Amino acid sequence: MRLLGTLILPIAALASFGCGPPDPETLYLDLGCPRCHGFHQEGNRYGPSLKGLTENWVSAQTVVTYLRDPKKAVENDARLKAQDRNYELKMQPVTGKSDEDLAILATFLLTTE
Ligand code: HEC
Repeated sequence: MRLLGTLILPIAALASFGCGPPDPETLYLDLGCPRCHGFHQEGNRYGPSLKGLTENWVSAQTVVTYLRDPKKAVENDARLKAQDRNYELKMQPVTGKSDEDLAILATFLLTTE
């Protein structure tokens, strides 16, 4: 049993300290997105639903660009501008994560039905 413990603990530690690509749902939670978009991307009074994003977003990369500078994207997009008026709080630029991590999050959001 002791041997099993010494083997399993390091494996568990490796898994939780980010070996391999991050889990998009964990990124969504860690970055505080549910506060304004709900735990299941359903939206709430602070932000719109994030379902069916593929209608308006052509690629994960465009979503990443948006996440890095939401204000600029909103200013340059009539649909976002109109939608933005319904919400009191504004999206803040996402920092502290790599573009690769944000692309994983964006891909996940684009595939949420
Ligand atoms: C403080 C509240 C708030 C937080 C936190 C927040 N958002 Fe938003 N988000 C908004 C609002 C408000 C809009 C609508 C802006 C607009 O339409 O221009 C929006 C719009 C979006 C859109 C575009 C939706 C569309 O209709 O095309 C995406 C994608 C998005 N958010 C993703 C995220 C992700 C991912 C996170 C976490 C990293 C996040 N948001 C965190 C408030 C928030």
